[in-house]
Amino acid sequence: MKKKDNTVRPFLKWAGNKFRILEHIHSMLPQGERLVEPFAGSGAVFLNTDFDNYLLADSNADLIALYQFLQQQGEAFIERCAKLFTPRCNNEAYFYRRRDEFNSTRDTERKASLFVYMNRHGYNGLCRYNAKGIFNVPFGRYKKPYFPEREMRAFYEKAKHATFVHMDFASLMATVKTGDVVYCDPPYVPLSSSSNFTTYSAGGFDLPQQQQLAELAEQTRQCGIPVLISNHNTTFTRKAYRAASNIKRFAVQRFISCNGNQRTQANELLALYT
Ligand SMILES: C[S@@+](CC[C@H](N)C(=O)[O-])C[C@H]1O[C@@H](n2cnc3c(N)ncnc32)[C@H](O)[C@@H]1O
Repeated sequence: MKKKDNTVRPFLKWAGNKFRILEHIHSMLPQGERLVEPFAGSGAVFLNTDFDNYLLADSNADLIALYQFLQQQGEAFIERCAKLFTPRCNNEAYFYRRRDEFNSTRDTERKASLFVYMNRHGYNGLCRYNAKGIFNVPFGRYKKPYFPEREMRAFYEKAKHATFVHMDFASLMATVKTGDVVYCDPPYVPLSSSSNFTTYSAGGFDLPQQQQLAELAEQTRQCGIPVLISNHNTTFTRKAYRAASNIKRFAVQRFISCNGNQRTQANELLALYT
């Protein structure tokens, strides 16, 4: 297991990122040659594990395009992003012009650098699109947004051993092979029926998809490929993952996003199919 002071932070702010529960994940994650992550997000687990190779997918096309540009161009891409992190770029009017540009440009490399800009200048680091796929996060009003230069370099180094694909989880899981280990971190099931859990990408992720993921985990295990899933610990998930060989439940301290000083406890679980 990696020591805490060795951990590598993702360069993107990402809802549901697993940076805080890495130790729990390390304690459950089987060894193998390649780690497959169908829900890559900010890559917290990818960055903090030691597999020979990685296959990372996400249904967010903008996220995967960004990773591919950083992987191909490294320093040149980081320099391009840095130009968007000056005081001149940190005001409301500039932000909304760049957001319009992001939503209309066909320059995919420019779009990828704007994704980094909006992740750090937008409200709460949210990544939210409307039903038409238009990115609609408001200006975040941060005094001095941090440019994650060091974190982008670390990601670039690690990406030398990774393949990034824009794919739905079910299609990706159909491609796994012997020697793979699969870590699945889907959008959380809601803690209550009123919770909104469609904020990750235009498509959302509903309970039938959560159920489908649990069934795919069971089928994948039957082919001799272990699968670890993380989620909230709820009646629904305990039932959906009842075929798992091991379930670990634990509490995590989380900040409530609308009031940065308040903490709350979220109950999480890890379900291992092996
Ligand atoms: C909880 S986040 C993953 C966080 C990641 N483990 C981290 O540490 O940052 C869930 C991710 O699933 C992606 N996602 C949502 N629906 C998906 C689908 N149908 N197939 C693949 N990825 C999906 C979202 O875009 C989001 O990045």
